[in-house]
Amino acid sequence: MSDKGMNLTLKIWRQKDAQSQGKMETYQIADISEHMSFLEMLDVLNEQLISEGQEPVAFDHDCREGICGMCSLYINGEAHGPDRGVTTCQLHMRMFNDGDTIYIEPFRAKAFPVVKDLVVDRSAFDRIQHSGGFVSVNTSGNTQDANALPIPKDDADKAFDAATCIGCGACVATCKNASAMLYVSAKVSQFALLPQGKVEAKDRVMNMVKQMDLEGFGNCTNTGACEVECPKGISLDNIARMNREYLKAAIDK
Ligand code: SF4
Ligand code: FES
Repeated sequence: MSDKGMNLTLKIWRQKDAQSQGKMETYQIADISEHMSFLEMLDVLNEQLISEGQEPVAFDHDCREGICGMCSLYINGEAHGPDRGVTTCQLHMRMFNDGDTIYIEPFRAKAFPVVKDLVVDRSAFDRIQHSGGFVSVNTSGNTQDANALPIPKDDADKAFDAATCIGCGACVATCKNASAMLYVSAKVSQFALLPQGKVEAKDRVMNMVKQMDLEGFGNCTNTGACEVECPKGISLDNIARMNREYLKAAIDK
C-alpha cells in the first residue's frame, strides 16, 4: 500500500440551523492518508476551515469505534458510506481513490430534522425507547443469580443479536419510506425472546409501534434496504417477529 496522500473534492451539505435552507458546498482537501478514518478526514477539513477563518462543518460523533451510534452521514448516496458492516467512524479512507469527489449529506427523514450541517435530531428514537423499550425489574434486595433461569442457546443468541442495534438510524435514512421498523423490531426482539421480557411484552410492542407512528416514520414495504445498510447486521427476521408480537397483543387486547 502506498502512503501517498489523496487529493479529494468534498461536496458537503451546509445548513446554518433548523430554520435555514441548506445547500451543497464544495471543498478541496489534500494529502489524506488512506489509513485515516472518514471522521479523521473531516477533522482535517475542519482544521483547514478554522485556519481560513471559516466555520467548521458540524457532524455527530462520540465513541469513534462503532459502539455509540452517534455518527451518521450519507456518503455517496449510502448511509455510513460504501463499506458494509461498519459505521461512518469505522469507515476508512482506503475505500476511496485519489481524485475522487465525495458527496456528504445528513441522514434524511421527516422524523430526523436537520439541526445544523450534517447533524440531525434523532430524539424520536429516544421517545420510542421510553415508550416501552425496557424491562421493569426490582434490583434491590434478593437479586436472582443470572444462571438460575435457563434460556435456550438459540433464543439467547437471537436476543443478543437484536441487542447489538446501536440506534444509529441508518435503517431509517436508507429506507425510501423512512421506516423505523428495523430499529423498533430490534428493540422489541431483544426482550421478546427472553422470559424477563414476557411480562410487559404486549404493552411494549403496542406502545413502541404507536410512538413510532406518532413520530412520523413511514410504513415498511419490505424492500430490505435497511438490512443491507445496517452496520450491525440486524436481520429482517426481527421485523417478522415484531409483526407477530403486535398481532398477538392486538388480538388479546
Ligand atoms: S437497526 Fe441497524 S441501522 Fe437501524 S438503528 Fe439499529 S444498528 Fe442502526
Ligand atoms: S462515533 Fe460512536 S458509533 Fe460512530
